[in-house]
Amino acid sequence: MKDSYKREINYLRISVTDLCNLRCRYCMPEHGVEKFSHEKILSVEEIAEIASISAELGVKKIRLTGGEPLVRRGIIDICRKISEIPQIEELCITTNGMLLKQYAKELREAGVDRLNISIDTLQNEKYKDLTRCKISEHPVDDIFAGIEAAKKAGFENIKLNAVLIGGWNDDEITDFVELTKDNPYQIRFIELMPIGEAASWDKRSFLPNETVLEKAPELKAIGESGVAKLYQKEGYEGTIGLISPVNHHFCSQCNRLRLTADGKLKACLHSKKETPVKGLHGEELRATIANEISNKPENYDLGYDNPSSSMRNMNQIGG
Ligand code: 5AD
Ligand code: SF4
Repeated sequence: MKDSYKREINYLRISVTDLCNLRCRYCMPEHGVEKFSHEKILSVEEIAEIASISAELGVKKIRLTGGEPLVRRGIIDICRKISEIPQIEELCITTNGMLLKQYAKELREAGVDRLNISIDTLQNEKYKDLTRCKISEHPVDDIFAGIEAAKKAGFENIKLNAVLIGGWNDDEITDFVELTKDNPYQIRFIELMPIGEAASWDKRSFLPNETVLEKAPELKAIGESGVAKLYQKEGYEGTIGLISPVNHHFCSQCNRLRLTADGKLKACLHSKKETPVKGLHGEELRATIANEISNKPENYDLGYDNPSSSMRNMNQIGG
């Protein structure tokens, strides 16, 4: 259905857990992470019902996020139930890839269509520092092993997401671009948003995506894919996507609705407003979702001097 600004809301992002096996510096604090209690978290059945009613209201694409979706108990069940909803044309997962090798085949069999894999650096040591990774000595190698497993399981058009962080990975832009030479990946640079942990970061960490084009001037614009502007180096197999939530807001074309793991709908990522749906069923649930879509705010003027008003860290929203 359309919201009051005539935007067709057809994309639901579901955070299936606030838990994560990493602690990316811009996303979560290292210690003292308060996790939602078990009773607060939506059950597999509740997620499936919300997805199903949203689909009746016009949602065609669902993305599962986290925290890290692959640490959620029942994730395969969730995928299977959602992929069986007739109106859902595309089921995607955003994962940090640490458990992908183990799960790729099951995810594919459960009906997942596409994967986005977060990888902010191609260097193991830097990765361990940025994500405070304690579960692997060679996390970057593990992610690429996961990607190989995903390809083998039948996943195509794999997207890699790198949040661009000044002083952390802007020196790797050309390495990421070179990775598209012989691989059909779409590597997407995402501007770091001033939200959650990152809201208080130094200004120098926030780079506009134009930095990518300055460092790799050979990139040629080739079109758009959703909110990403696409580029490619001549003769290269893969593409580079630039997603600029800070410097080029895409509110006017926003087609998204979000559901948190504790059962709150968010019509805007950056708004304080949350609408509880846990415990609602049937008609009451349908009316609440429809109302949330109708009342989706027009825009949010996110910027370094106007950080997100969301009261949550990103692991509790799912990006
Ligand atoms: N700005 C931009 N992207 C972010 N993510 C988490 N926090 C931020 C932020 N402050 C991204 C992760 C991952 C996805 C789930 O959201 O890197 O790709
Ligand atoms: Fe985990 Fe993703 Fe947050 Fe990193 S960005 S801590 S991988 S939820």
